[in-house]
Amino acid sequence: MRPFVAGTERDLASAVAEWALSLRERIPAAEKAGEIPRDVIRELGRLGVLGMTVPEPLGGLGASTVAFALVLEELAAAWPSLAVAVAVNTGIVDGTLVRHGTPEQLRRWLPRLIDGSGLGAFALSEPSSGSDAASLRATAIRDGDGWRLNGRKQFITNARYAPLAIVFARIGETDPARAHAGITAFAVPLDAPGVVIGTAERKLGLLASDTSALVLDGVRVDRDAVVGEVGKGFALALAALDGGRVGIAAQSVGIARAAIAIARDYAKHRTQFGRPIVDFEGVRFPLARSEGEIAAARLLFLRAAWLKDHGRPFTREAAMAKLYASEMAQRATHAAVQTLGGYGYMREYAVERYARDGRATTIYEGTSEIQRLVIARSLLLGLQAG
Ligand code: CAA
Repeated sequence: MRPFVAGTERDLASAVAEWALSLRERIPAAEKAGEIPRDVIRELGRLGVLGMTVPEPLGGLGASTVAFALVLEELAAAWPSLAVAVAVNTGIVDGTLVRHGTPEQLRRWLPRLIDGSGLGAFALSEPSSGSDAASLRATAIRDGDGWRLNGRKQFITNARYAPLAIVFARIGETDPARAHAGITAFAVPLDAPGVVIGTAERKLGLLASDTSALVLDGVRVDRDAVVGEVGKGFALALAALDGGRVGIAAQSVGIARAAIAIARDYAKHRTQFGRPIVDFEGVRFPLARSEGEIAAARLLFLRAAWLKDHGRPFTREAAMAKLYASEMAQRATHAAVQTLGGYGYMREYAVERYARDGRATTIYEGTSEIQRLVIARSLLLGLQAG
């Protein structure tokens, strides 16, 4: 029994879980090559995963946030690099266009984000603005009836696969009292003159997921590239991240679950001191603790997803889910590596990969410290939890 989850939502997640299992043999090579194979992205498109939450009239599956979060849990349990690529494309980029895009933007971009020919990117962070996203420096100046964009974006997931990025740039001078004023969102085709994709970052984990810089050197876009309202892009970015945080919570649960499953199987079969190591409390208790924490984290992300599906405020619940689930994934992957001992540190068992991949979950889409800040602000304002 899973509160918040209907049968069809569970079925969708099971179908994706089954498909993701078939990727297992290909993961080590793809992680080594540092890329998600194009045929895997096409297959995600064919399965409908890349347009999962896009309404049916717009070409998507019209599935709920709950279903999508469960799918992300399954993808992450199989391959966390793939899960983050999908989370950004479907959760953040599709979601932003569906909420704020003009009919023309939807017609132009959605098919390319859902058919498996590419994966969308979200370009908010810069070399000098991460947690303090409102201090971004990229600029947009009027150029005839369009805009000219300049700036450097950093740590952009999917940049190499993206037909477009939603780019945040500032219009006018920075007002120190309202740093976010003037920030505007643009749908920028990444084949536009002046767009340069930087070298892929070399990371601790998530090796197959692309993380690259995006340089905008006098990139000209039309007036209709503005997503939402001119000057109102910051709230749009934070709303997108609220949804994204539910997805990262789900990814964290998938990572923890997969690592603990490997540890459990290992502990049942590994014999030391004349008996299976799972007989020792020092081994079984961390597994038991993780099992409970995984269930708690899942309830938190399902609650946030359910609130989003019901049009209710969920900023605080998304932050709580992301904070708890991502921190929980650190404990769980640590316990999993520890259970396998020396083998846990070696590449032949996937627990070391889950531990490396899971480390990112307390950082991207808002660090744990930022989630605490969001929760504390809502608490101090006296807002009710959902
Ligand atoms: N939804 C919509 N609007 C919101 C909002 C939300 N959740 N939270 C705040 N706003 C609005 C406010 O109402 C305010 O608007 P008005 O002035 O019009 O009322 C405006 O946004 C500014 O709000 P704050 O004063 O609270 O903003 P702040 O500068 O103090 O920043 C913050 C708030 C929570 C720290 C925010 O900057 C933040 O979340 N930082 C972390 C950034 C982040 O998560 N980056 C991730 C990068 S993307 C990524 O990782 C994806 C990937 O590729 C994997």
